[in-house]
Amino acid sequence: MKRAVYPGSFDPFTNGHLDIVRRALQVVDHLTIAVLRNTSKKNLLSPDERVELISEVYAGEPRVEVTTFQGLLADFCRKRDTRIVIRGLRAVSDFDYEHAIFLMNNKLFHDLETIFLMSNSEHSFISSSIVKEVSSLGGNVDDQVPPAVARKLKEIHGRS
Ligand code: PNS
Repeated sequence: MKRAVYPGSFDPFTNGHLDIVRRALQVVDHLTIAVLRNTSKKNLLSPDERVELISEVYAGEPRVEVTTFQGLLADFCRKRDTRIVIRGLRAVSDFDYEHAIFLMNNKLFHDLETIFLMSNSEHSFISSSIVKEVSSLGGNVDDQVPPAVARKLKEIHGRS
């Protein structure tokens, strides 16, 4: 069975992430969505809230597991004996950052492969930070995030 890890901050999980998961499942049998715990970024949602929301999105999908991880991604993958990492690429501007992560992970765990999936045009403009900003300023992001996330954002920003 081919298993892979899809790591990220997912603060919040967007339709862009959803599309990457859908496509990753065409390549691997089982996907672990791994939410990073130890981030220096200022987050809107706690790691547990993110896991809860993503789990709601994939309720009833046995091929997807949602969990958190701390420390190095390479160590997390090694411990779980998973050798495939999935990452989405929205545009050329993502490439340098993703390449640096790939090189570092590859140094830390030589057998770890990264599969990059390109976002399609419908999703390439969606980013968690923009979704957060627009939502906090009263903009509608319902078509950019799954319903569970849209509901949570409205709850946080005091809208019904
Ligand atoms: O959604 P993001 O914030 O772009 O995800 C980045 C992530 C979580 C994949 C990356 O920061 C990561 O793997 N962090 C864990 C710490 C680590 O392994 N660092 C070395 C490679 S950057």
